[in-house]
Amino acid sequence: MDPIKNPFTPGAGYPPHELVGREAVLEEARILLGRTLRKKPEKSMLLTGLRGVGKTVLLNAIEQEAQSQGYKTIFFEVTESQTMGHKLIPALRNLFFELDRIEGSKEMIKRGLMILRNFIGSLKLNYGEFGVELDPLPGIADSGNPEIDLPDLFLAVAEAARAKNSGVALLIDEIQLLRQEELAGLIMAMHKLQQKQAPFVLIAAGLPTLPRLAGEAKSYAERLFSYPIIGQLTKEECDSALQEPVSLEHADFSQDALDAIYQHTRGFPYFLQEWGYQVWKVATHPYMTRDDVQAAETLVTARLDTNFFRVRYDRLTDGEKRFLHAMATGATPCKSADVAEKLNMKPSAATPIRASLIRKGMIFSPRHGFIDYSVPLFGEFLNRTEKNTCQ
Ligand SMILES: Nc1ncnc2c1ncn2[C@@H]1O[C@H](COP(=O)(O)OP(=O)(O)OP(=O)(O)O)[C@@H](O)[C@H]1O
Ligand SMILES: [Mg+2]
Repeated sequence: MDPIKNPFTPGAGYPPHELVGREAVLEEARILLGRTLRKKPEKSMLLTGLRGVGKTVLLNAIEQEAQSQGYKTIFFEVTESQTMGHKLIPALRNLFFELDRIEGSKEMIKRGLMILRNFIGSLKLNYGEFGVELDPLPGIADSGNPEIDLPDLFLAVAEAARAKNSGVALLIDEIQLLRQEELAGLIMAMHKLQQKQAPFVLIAAGLPTLPRLAGEAKSYAERLFSYPIIGQLTKEECDSALQEPVSLEHADFSQDALDAIYQHTRGFPYFLQEWGYQVWKVATHPYMTRDDVQAAETLVTARLDTNFFRVRYDRLTDGEKRFLHAMATGATPCKSADVAEKLNMKPSAATPIRASLIRKGMIFSPRHGFIDYSVPLFGEFLNRTEKNTCQ
């Protein structure tokens, strides 16, 4: 059917027609934002979920909600190549300038900019002539230690926002990639900001390793944040995520087509978008049936293998690939010790491989001693892919 009218949106961070099944998390975020502006304590949120479940699109929706409640927002994605400071500095500078344009006292903005300048100096970064006209304010956010500097810096920006009747929402994607000292600094800052009832909210998203990483960085992190799990959609949610967008284009799925797509996708949002997209593409009439789903199968598998699975697989070493293939010979979650045994390895020899797969975001530990894939249905991909190349 007409490719221009195709209502499906497979792709990293591409907003779907509607955020099906995420009402409860959006409501939790709405309440957190509203209460924080009113100086009522509430836990910040760390969303966790497997690859492709819709964490990024949810963060974007929460950013919109924050803006509609009057917050100034900072949104960035953590990458391995840059520190958090690199991401924060330009965003904070823009935010101070934005606040400066709002009517009212300039005192807090000036103070905030001085503190930001200290922070920039402590990281030995160069941001041009920024702030040379400001008086020095030594001893605040200038130590180079995120645990000391981030609380001061965030408090300064929160106070500047409060002076303009606003708040700050910090949205961080892929937060599991933060360096441990940065994560510790961030948690410490949130702890301090909560105690001061500052209008500052952190909403972040990451892989399921996140709660453990946060707990390791600061043991009280468990009590400081809520950890909503972003998971698969139910059958009903999956049906409506498929049916509603096509009905706006005067098309329909038959019930058996919906059932077949659910079976293939198990309710994982990225897969659902890809299936919807390709079925629409191969269908020649607006009533899409199980036959159309079948006709799209080769296309979908090829697209998912190339765009979703292989990009991750190709980044692994042979040893890591072997480890994952051994996992795929049985059900997951599975015991790390069992995987080592399948590879005729001592558990201690498998430990570094397991650790590097966790670091690369390929697997996580759902409970002590067990591991599972962070990429949904990865085992099935491995079982149809060229195992022999790494054995
Ligand atoms: N609630 C939803 N209903 C329908 N489709 C959704 C939903 N949430 C996300 N999607 C779709 O799923 C795909 C993946 O979304 P997104 O990139 O936000 O996932 P993610 O969890 O951030 O993935 P990754 O971990 O790889 O970054 C997108 O194509 C998006 O349109
Ligand atoms: Mg994402």
